[in-house]
Amino acid sequence: MKPHVLQLNPILVPAINDKLNELYTVHRLFEQQDKTAYLAEHGANIRGVITGGHTGITNAMIESLPALQVIAVNGVGTDAVDLEFARSRNLPVTATFGALTEDVADLAIGLILASCREICSGNDFVKTGNWQKNPHPGAIPLSRRFSGKRVGIVGMGKVGRAIAQRAAAFDCPIAYTDLRHIAELPYNFVPDLLQLARDSDILVLAAAADKAQGIINAAVLDALGKDGYLINIARGKLVVEADLVDALTRGAIAGAGLDVFVDEPNVPEALFPMDRVVLQAHRASATVESRTAMGEMVLASLAAGLAGQRPEGSLTT
Ligand code: 8YV
Repeated sequence: MKPHVLQLNPILVPAINDKLNELYTVHRLFEQQDKTAYLAEHGANIRGVITGGHTGITNAMIESLPALQVIAVNGVGTDAVDLEFARSRNLPVTATFGALTEDVADLAIGLILASCREICSGNDFVKTGNWQKNPHPGAIPLSRRFSGKRVGIVGMGKVGRAIAQRAAAFDCPIAYTDLRHIAELPYNFVPDLLQLARDSDILVLAAAADKAQGIINAAVLDALGKDGYLINIARGKLVVEADLVDALTRGAIAGAGLDVFVDEPNVPEALFPMDRVVLQAHRASATVESRTAMGEMVLASLAAGLAGQRPEGSLTT
C-alpha cells in the first residue's frame, strides 16, 4: 500500500509528478470542489503534505490530519506555516532552501531593468504598431539607468546575497538591512530601514515575511523618494499595498517591479496603466531548473519523514 499524501498546490514539472504518483497515493486538494468534504473523507489516511510557500497550511488543517508525519514546503517562505505549532506536534517542516536562489535573484534584476528602462511599455509600443504611427524618437519618454545606482537590500539571506552579487556587477554600491550585521559581507549594513530607503535609488525586498509584515509603508516610500524604485520578489505582505499605490500615484517614488502581492491573484488595478510599474504573477522561482530542484527536495523530505526519520533541513524537529 502506497502512503497517502495531500498536495495543496499544483507541481508543474511532469517528472516530479510522475515520481510522486509512483511512490504515493496523491490527493490533489487543489482540484477538489468541496475541500472540507474531501478532507473529512481522506484526512485520516494522510501522512505527508506538500504545499507552496505562499499557501502553507493552517493549524486547523494540520489538526484534521491525525496521521501526518511531515510537511514539505515547495518553496523557501515558511510564513504561511505556524512553525511553533508544528514543533509542538513534533512535525517536521521542510523548505527548499538553495534550490531557487539564482532564479529569484535573476528575476529581481530583470524587474529592476524592466522598470527602470520601461522595457514592457517599450515592447507594447512596438507590438501594438504605435512605433510605426509615431516614428519620431520623442514618442516615448527617456527611461532611467540602472548601472551604478545605489541598491538597498532588505533581507540578506541566500536570495538577498545573490541579488547583491548581481547588482555589484552593474557597478552598484550595495547596502542592506537585516536583523544583524553580517560580518563576512562586503556591503554597508544600515540597521534602520528608513535610513536605508533614504540612501537607496532602488530598494529590493528579499526578506522573510514571518515577522516583518507591513514594513514598507508611506514613510519608507517617501524616504526612497521620487527617483526611487521598489522591487519585491519576497512577499506582498511586507508592503502596505495601499501606501505603495498611493506613493506611485502621487509620484512619491518613480516606479516598481513586483512579483508578489498581498492577496494574490488580486493585484491593485491602479497599477496596470503605470509604465514604470512592471508586474509578474509570482513567478520568480518558476523555471524548469528551480522547480525541478525544488521538487526533488520535496521528494527527499517526504521519503525521510514517512520513514520516520528527520528530513534534512527540518525547521521544527
Ligand atoms: C513559489 C515561493 O512560487 O519560495 C517561496 O516561498 O513563494 C515561491 O517560490 C511557491 O512556493 C511555489 O510552490
